[in-house]
Amino acid sequence: MPEADTTKPTKQKLYYEHIPQATPGFFLKGAGSLDWGMKNRLSRIFNPATGRTVMLAIDHGYFQGPTTGLERIDLNIVPLMPMADALMLTRGILRTTVPPALTRPIVLRCSGGPSILKELSDEELAVDIEDAIRLNVSAVTLQVFIGGEFETRSVHNMTRLVDAGLRAGIPTMAVTAVGKTLTRDAKYLRLACRICAELGAQFVKTYFCPEEFETVTASCPVPIVMAGGTKLPELDALTMAYNAIQQGASGVDMGRNIFQSDAPKAMMQAVAKVVHENMKPKAAFDLYETLKNQKAKKSKRNG
Ligand code: R5P
Repeated sequence: MPEADTTKPTKQKLYYEHIPQATPGFFLKGAGSLDWGMKNRLSRIFNPATGRTVMLAIDHGYFQGPTTGLERIDLNIVPLMPMADALMLTRGILRTTVPPALTRPIVLRCSGGPSILKELSDEELAVDIEDAIRLNVSAVTLQVFIGGEFETRSVHNMTRLVDAGLRAGIPTMAVTAVGKTLTRDAKYLRLACRICAELGAQFVKTYFCPEEFETVTASCPVPIVMAGGTKLPELDALTMAYNAIQQGASGVDMGRNIFQSDAPKAMMQAVAKVVHENMKPKAAFDLYETLKNQKAKKSKRNG
């Protein structure tokens, strides 16, 4: 049996974090040998000028129904959409609620099955690739439950989606799902992200960990976008995004930390500065406060 990741908590120079992986012929890590359609779709999601993306995740309803902040996507989320580099959502919300004139790239949730009342890793593929093509999406996505009860099935879901995506020229974003009992440390995240990339995902969404996150990005041969997670105070969320980017993430895919913020539009703008312009967390937080206060004053003036 091959040896597993044996990296000790004390950092060793195994990952060469200071040496970026070469990306001949294309700006995005690991995408140099992909076909034109894949590269074009990835270039809609990741800004070619920075190589990064700010995705807005609003797919929560696929397993937990009307999540706080997503009760009325038409009223509260549609106005935010033009500010995101890409949108992660379900085909139900896309068809019912998103104006077709919106040209933001779509990353379509393609797995589903269990609700929050059941074992979450018991997912199946829930969208046919033909429908993803019909909807003109820029990527497809699903959950991969490494270490979960239905680990093998979720990995198989991913490889089937990757195969279908390759036939259509649509990239797959694998989301490393962390179950209730699994620790979100670097060792686990390295394992989960690397498996997703080795088995064909063109990019991976995963959680930030405070220790050695740079080894997670360095050992994954495709871009990683940082998942947002539970709502944090705005300065903490901006700090987490900043640290992830500085440690090699190619962007963020945040949901609750944007749409549950007191000022979602201000938060989107602050996160974009952190991601695309390397703005420091404190400066981004000041920008957030300024934009939030401007909006409050305007609303007061308008009665
Ligand atoms: C589930 O695990 C999904 O990926 C989400 O529904 C969503 O994308 C999570 O976003 P956030 O944790 O930033 O609210």
